[in-house]
Amino acid sequence: MNVFADKLIAWYEENKRDLPWRHTKDPYLIWISEVILQQTRVAQGYDYYMRFVNRFPDVFTLAEADEDEVMRYWQGLGYYSRARNLHAAAKSMAEAGGFPDTYVEVRALKGVGEYTAAAICSFAYDMPYAVVDGNVYRVLSRWLGVDTPIDSVQGKKLFAEAANELLDVHRSALYNQAIMEFGALQCTPTVPDCTMCPLSDSCVALQLGKVDVLPVKQHKTKVTNRYFNYIYVRMGAYTFINKRTGDDIWKNLYEFPLIETTGQSEQDDAMFLEKLQELWGTDRVTSDKTMFCKEESAILQGRKCHFVKLLKSDVKHVLSHRVIHANFYELEMPEETPAPNGWLKVLVKDLHKFAVSNLVSHFFSLILEPNHQNK
Ligand code: ADE
Repeated sequence: MNVFADKLIAWYEENKRDLPWRHTKDPYLIWISEVILQQTRVAQGYDYYMRFVNRFPDVFTLAEADEDEVMRYWQGLGYYSRARNLHAAAKSMAEAGGFPDTYVEVRALKGVGEYTAAAICSFAYDMPYAVVDGNVYRVLSRWLGVDTPIDSVQGKKLFAEAANELLDVHRSALYNQAIMEFGALQCTPTVPDCTMCPLSDSCVALQLGKVDVLPVKQHKTKVTNRYFNYIYVRMGAYTFINKRTGDDIWKNLYEFPLIETTGQSEQDDAMFLEKLQELWGTDRVTSDKTMFCKEESAILQGRKCHFVKLLKSDVKHVLSHRVIHANFYELEMPEETPAPNGWLKVLVKDLHKFAVSNLVSHFFSLILEPNHQNK
C-alpha cells in the first residue's frame, strides 16, 4: 500500500489543470512540453507550446525546419539553448527514423537530462521512472522532513532514491503528474495552505514547524552584472543586424552592433569609433568621424556620419545568473552604406521577422514607435 501516492493521485484528480500535453501519449509532444516547462511557468509556456506544435507537429517537421524559424518560435522564452538542442535532437531522431522508445536512448538526446527523460518515458510509455524537479524536491523534503541540501551530491542521491521508492510503478504517468501538480499548486514555495493539504497528518515539516525553511539549498545563485551598449545604425529605411555567435547568452539570436564594457560607461565617441572601425575597417572609418572608402567609386566618400545619439539608458534586463545593463544608441548613416562583412542589411520594418532576445525586442519597439525620436 502506498498511501502517499494514493493521496497525491486523489488530490490530483480533483485539482489538476486541464493542460494540452496531458491529453497525449505522443512522446514528441510530451518532449516539447517538458522542454518548454523546464524553465518556464505553465501560464507563459502554454501559448508557446500551442504555437510550436502547431507549426512543428512532429519530429520530422521540426528536423526539416530552418533553425532561424525555430528560434523565432522560441523568441521571448529565454534559455535559447533549449531551442537549439531541440532542433539538433530532432535532426538526429529524424535520421534514426523517429522518436526513441527506450530510457537510455531518450536520455541520450541533446538537452535531455534525467528529469526530462523520466518525464517523457513515464508520460508517454508508462515506464517506472520517478521525476525529480523543483516541485518534487519541495514536496519530498517537506513531507519527509529532510534538510539535506537539494543541490548537494548527497541530497540529489537521497531525493532520487526517495522519489523512486515512493513512485507508484503501476501508475507512473499519473503519479508523476500528480506530485508535480501538487508541488505547483498546493505545496507552494511560499505560504502554502497546509490546512487544506491531504498530507498534513503525515507531513514531518508541518509537525516540526519547518515548512517555510524546506527545501534547503546550499548555493545561492551568483549574479553577475554585464554592460551592453547597442548601436542602432539608421540608414534611411535600413539597418544592420547580425547573429550572435560564441559560447554566450543569446547565441544564434540577432542583434545590433554591440559594445560590451566592464562597467556603466558614459557616452564615449572613441568607443563607438573603434566599433565602427572593427565593423567596416580603418580605411573606411576615420577619426574625423567621416565615412571613407579608399576606392574612387565609393559611395561613402566624404559623407558625414552624424555621430551617436543616446536613445535610452540603463535598461536593466534580469536573467537567472546575470543582470544586463543596457544603453541604446542611434547612429545615422547614408542609406547606401554597405553592410559590414557578415552582417545583414535589413529593412527596419522587417526587424520583427528575426529572432531576438527580449532586450533587443524592447529596442525594436522603441525604434518602430513613430515618436521615438522626440524622446
Ligand atoms: N512542469 C513540468 N512538467 C509539467 C507538466 N507536465 N505539467 C505541468 N507542469 C509541469
